Amino acid sequence: MRRGLVILLWCGCLSSVVPSPKSRDEDAQLQAVLDSGSFRGDGFRKINRAPFVSTLHPEDSVDVYVSAAAAADYEWVEPDRDGPAPPIPVGTVIVREIVGQKLTAMEKRDPNAYPGGGDFLYAVTDLAGQPMAKADGTAEWGSLDECGSCHATRKESSWLFGVLPADR
Ligand code: HEC
Repeated sequence: MRRGLVILLWCGCLSSVVPSPKSRDEDAQLQAVLDSGSFRGDGFRKINRAPFVSTLHPEDSVDVYVSAAAAADYEWVEPDRDGPAPPIPVGTVIVREIVGQKLTAMEKRDPNAYPGGGDFLYAVTDLAGQPMAKADGTAEWGSLDECGSCHATRKESSWLFGVLPADR
């Protein structure tokens, strides 16, 4: 019995059964930031001066907040400039608030976590951080192709669009 357990641990079989704690942490970290609204405080930098008109949805205004440690890397990126941009550190959280409506967010994950989406976790929540539901009832959270496919057009710029210098 005991020897069986030792062999099981040694061959690493357990690690293939138990979900990696890393991926759970990523979800929990982003959820905590969005739930608590901590992206509005210390540890984050608001990139724009005043809400600016979204290129994606010109009827909306947006604010963008980025983990302070990655703010300089993010600020390298500009909508009208191509890369190569500096790499975004793993764990970086970027929140794009559509003023008065909802939050869209990205969190940089480990290499190869989601190659089709620049290894970002994508999320859409209400203003209190509660994930929104898609038409099929699943949460707008995770490796979302509907987000990654468009951000893929910005591969050279770390998969990001950035904020125009005039809006900063
Ligand atoms: C059709 C293209 C397109 C799709 C689809 C798209 N985005 Fe974006 N995204 C943009 C553009 C353009 C910006 C720049 C800000 C703006 O115009 O609102 C942006 C900015 C962002 C930002 C700020 C970081 C940056 O790139 O500068 C986040 C966070 C974000 N999007 C999350 C999402 C999420 C989550 C989804 C999926 C629900 C998504 N996006 C789908 C085009 C897209």
